[in-house]
Amino acid sequence: MAKKPRKPIAVDKLNPMLAQMELEQLVKEIAKHNKAYHGDDAPLISDADYDVLMRRNADIEAAFPQLKLANSPSDLVGYVPQEKFKKITHNIPMLSLGNAFNADDVQEFYTKIDRFLGLDGAVINLTAEPKIDGLSASLRYENGILVSGATRGDGQVGEDITENLKTISEIPHELKGDNIPDIVEVRGEVYMSHAEFAALNARQEDAGQKIFANPRNAAAGSLRQLDSRITASRNLHFFAYAWGEMSEFGFQTQMGMVEQFEAWGFTVNPLMKMFDNADELVAHYAQIEEQRPHLGYDIDGVVYKVNRLDLQERLGFVSRAPRWAIAHKFPAEKARTVINDIEIQVGRTGALTPVARLEPVSVGGVVVSNATLHNEDEIARKDVRIGDTVVIQRAGDVIPQIVEVVLEKRPADSVAYEFPRHCPICGSAADRELNAKTGKMDVIRRCEGGLICKAQVTERLRHFVSRNAFDFDGLGSKQVEQFYEWGIIKDAADIFDIEAHDGEKWDTVRKREGWGEQSVDKLFAAINDRREIGLDRFIFGLGIRHIGETTARMLARNYETMDVFLPAMQAASVPIGTDGELVNEAYADLMNMDGIGDIVALSLVQFFAEENNLKFLDKLLGAVTTIPLEKADDDSPVAGKVMVFTGSLEIMTRNEAKAKAESLGAKVTGSVSKKTDILVAGPGAGSKLKKAEELGIQVLTEQEWVDLANAK
Ligand code: IVH
Repeated sequence: MAKKPRKPIAVDKLNPMLAQMELEQLVKEIAKHNKAYHGDDAPLISDADYDVLMRRNADIEAAFPQLKLANSPSDLVGYVPQEKFKKITHNIPMLSLGNAFNADDVQEFYTKIDRFLGLDGAVINLTAEPKIDGLSASLRYENGILVSGATRGDGQVGEDITENLKTISEIPHELKGDNIPDIVEVRGEVYMSHAEFAALNARQEDAGQKIFANPRNAAAGSLRQLDSRITASRNLHFFAYAWGEMSEFGFQTQMGMVEQFEAWGFTVNPLMKMFDNADELVAHYAQIEEQRPHLGYDIDGVVYKVNRLDLQERLGFVSRAPRWAIAHKFPAEKARTVINDIEIQVGRTGALTPVARLEPVSVGGVVVSNATLHNEDEIARKDVRIGDTVVIQRAGDVIPQIVEVVLEKRPADSVAYEFPRHCPICGSAADRELNAKTGKMDVIRRCEGGLICKAQVTERLRHFVSRNAFDFDGLGSKQVEQFYEWGIIKDAADIFDIEAHDGEKWDTVRKREGWGEQSVDKLFAAINDRREIGLDRFIFGLGIRHIGETTARMLARNYETMDVFLPAMQAASVPIGTDGELVNEAYADLMNMDGIGDIVALSLVQFFAEENNLKFLDKLLGAVTTIPLEKADDDSPVAGKVMVFTGSLEIMTRNEAKAKAESLGAKVTGSVSKKTDILVAGPGAGSKLKKAEELGIQVLTEQEWVDLANAK
């Protein structure tokens, strides 16, 4: 959900207290976005909005240098590497670039260099080249042979992704030519083309797999595969533009070095050129911006670099970025178009979400026909109306946003948009609830139709069959929706009844495309396979609001069996007390569970208080038996211990190790602290191992842990 744009106080109006509060808030916010972007490959905001946050942080730090925090985002480069790959330490750190947002910033960059070098206005040549929107990688060649390849990671330590990088055809396994230094480290950008991105997402969608938000995230996801055959199938590309360690160095210029990369067999960007002053740089920037939609890959700016390497050396670095280079970023891509309609979509929990249907328009080479409107308040705040001409913005992510309404173009007969008070699918009332916690009205309006609402039912069905719920082989969201459309099922419990009705209903299905005799038999087998299912999956599959996978597992672990869980939930849902307040023992027990708050508890109570839901459960439990989670073992050697796993595990996967430890009664956490009892450290363990040793915590190798786990 997009936040309302902050209205920042001008930096020179901030007092130290406000400045400190804001810096602390920015650290947290930026860290969250770093994790989403680099760690999860799923950004929450556009790159342009991210830059705004980074810039605000830098501006406040410049005005209040004494308040700069120890963990300031200005000093961070990228994201801390994930645990599943081995680490590679960069002998020469991989740094980042400072940003320029307009011609003045570029002029200032040039002037500063001139002043720093004291060249008295003598011409300083700079190169300009596209800033590729991908991921940087460092390739190490020893005696001309590629020996390792790493991600940037935090700039000091990256992940070893050698095998994956080797699958990229533009990365030579052996350097061409003679006189190759013994050690050569070539750095550059791995990226995915627009064509490959579209093809990949189409394949992912067909297979019911994750859809990537943009080519950069797709490239990141493709590079972080443990199976390099997957990387190979993604057709990634590589441009070489920088270097790390070199055992000999005879080069004088940036341009000369890049020409050498080409001679060694790398692809270099054809748009790199050399200029004499800031005006020329900015003119080239404008040219590249014009070509941007036709390049076939994402770029997010133009990088300028001082050409002479001796001058680069003299200029050096400031914190995380070189003084001799800067990235001139493109503004978010915008376009004007007309809103043809506002449509309301209804989700599994009944949430009404407005979507603007747009007159298709090309924004930076991508045709856009929908934009999110978020919610009712957002429409009212921007006063967005059907028929309005709007400015839309696509900035690195797939779903474009509406920036503003062009009021001069508003038709004379335009009327304010009235958000429906009834569900557009089933006609039931759609209300906004009072949020128990904040005391404010929820921003989301919800359809109260529950099981009679077709939209909610299909969304629930899709959830029921999803990967972490019932996960039937061959019965994905597409198929379950078809069955509903064809009248074969009305709710999820009916899935288990289909075979019994073979004949009447299935005769028609067998005649439909994609459902031959064999696939129907396979389907029945897959369904029967799930007549026994873990209690956690069962609870998650119900699709109760706020009950995600983790909460479902906690409930399953706490209540152990359906015979305990169901009566407890029903008991908790019976209001007692004169004012109908929910105060009873079962409710108190629920609230006492570690990790359950009032939002989750209320949601459970509401679900189990609803007659229709109980009927549905009754029907489902007639067909399905739930299995308790493996009971935690109270007298195992790790019972009650707090454990952390680090480094790469070779005998079992991290998930297996975690599940095993939990089943033996241990609590597994992600970081080492005084509370940690045991650290299991595989090869490549780094800071966590160091910390555990400092704290005197018991450290086990993976083999020792396996022996301990199997001891009983
Ligand atoms: S030069 C010492 N050139 O941008 C600076 N970086 O924001 C070395 N990038 O980490 C980087 N295209 O991932 C350079 N033509 C280019 C680039 C480029 C994309 C990325 C790179 C870098 C990031 C900095």
